[in-house]
Amino acid sequence: MRGASFNDVVIVSALRTPICKARRGSFKDTLPDDLLTCVFKAVLKETGIAPSMIQDICIGNVLQPSAGASMGRVAQFFSGIPETVPLYTTCRMCSSGLQAVINIAQSIQTGMIDLGLAAGVESLTINPLSIAPPGFVVNPKVGENKLAMDSLLPMGITSENVAERYGITRVQQDKMAVESHAKAARAQKNGYFKDEIVPVKTKITDKDGKERSITVTADDGVRPGTNMETLSRLKPAFKPGGSTTAGNASQVSDGAAAVIVTRRATADALGLPVLGALKSYAVVGVPPDVMGIGPAFAIPIALQRAGLGISDIDIFELNEAFASQATYCVEKLGIPYEKLNPKGGAIALGHPVGCTGARQVATLLHELKRRGKRAYGVVSMCMGTGMGAAAVFEYPGQIGADDRPMSRL
Ligand SMILES: CC(C)(COP(=O)(O)OP(=O)(O)OC[C@H]1O[C@@H](n2cnc3c(N)ncnc32)[C@H](O)[C@@H]1OP(=O)(O)O)[C@@H](O)C(=O)NCCC(=O)NCCS
Repeated sequence: MRGASFNDVVIVSALRTPICKARRGSFKDTLPDDLLTCVFKAVLKETGIAPSMIQDICIGNVLQPSAGASMGRVAQFFSGIPETVPLYTTCRMCSSGLQAVINIAQSIQTGMIDLGLAAGVESLTINPLSIAPPGFVVNPKVGENKLAMDSLLPMGITSENVAERYGITRVQQDKMAVESHAKAARAQKNGYFKDEIVPVKTKITDKDGKERSITVTADDGVRPGTNMETLSRLKPAFKPGGSTTAGNASQVSDGAAAVIVTRRATADALGLPVLGALKSYAVVGVPPDVMGIGPAFAIPIALQRAGLGISDIDIFELNEAFASQATYCVEKLGIPYEKLNPKGGAIALGHPVGCTGARQVATLLHELKRRGKRAYGVVSMCMGTGMGAAAVFEYPGQIGADDRPMSRL
């Protein structure tokens, strides 16, 4: 999967729900099928594509039973996509939403389909993060193999390991958290999320047991007043004496995102403007006990495959699973902080694990479009059990917005 063939795969729509805090946010009483239905309908409406034209659906999910396969099919039928359209789910931990986009892209590149629907969804309210979910049996031989044992570590402990091993201080972590909230708050205030977020009409049960209808339009985890002083008072969340806190870790959230991926020739034939072209992708394995370092290894390979360097990239959507690991990756690669998550990252917005990769694609491409010029962006994240993924996208630019030639490779 490298070279010019990637240039034939384009994205014509990428939309997401707001991301809401699990258990007490606006989607605490909303099923993931309904979140998915909302984004499926939205991308179909935005593109005007007839549902029967979709040739395959891939959904990234981590924690739903059977990886959400039947939930996905329910959402498909709720969205009016006929039963003749096949569907499957994929789980590559926190990159599952991006992996779904790549899976559909690969089907296009190998000539199996011309147009597909990729998505990501997670309700951490309904299926909480846990190293031992119901039905999970730890292999009794795990203790005999260090890597196998490390792959079962709680994610917060891997964050502490990264901070300790690579000398990422509490102050550095809290600083990234302050920035994440400040950037997200500014983006909300300026309306920068409006083109990527689909309002969700749903119901919520109040503390007094009364159900009421609501329309959710914004991410609810953003705390505009976040500052170093209040963050410094938060206690370590995972280990006494540690540096990872509720303030500098990603929030536990619910949400969904959907992306329509197609061949450039098909987009042209349908008269659909290209929101982004997929230039390259890389996924790597890293030691599970410091799983957060994954992007520092995946990004250079993806960039090399695209024939680009760090300085060619305008925006890095690097998932803030934890400020410790995100800071490590940014420092290791020399990513300028002004290019990092310009609308905030998972510390402020939240991290519904299976959804996140697809959410980042929507966030990246709409920001590149808002800026108007031809530009490149990277979507990257670390993954539990020790992996990193990165994809490079190109926004083609609005006609007249840039004197560089449009990419039509
Ligand atoms: C760290 C973690 C355990 C904290 O969970 P939590 O206690 O439910 O976190 P909350 O967001 O509710 O914050 C708890 C408190 O911290 C404080 N706090 C959090 N963020 C803050 C901020 N930006 N400024 C000031 N105070 C803050 C608040 O007092 C808050 O309580 P409140 O919401 O009632 O005001 C949880 O977020 C977590 O597990 N994150 C990592 C998830 C993960 O592993 N994902 C996979 C990655 S690979």
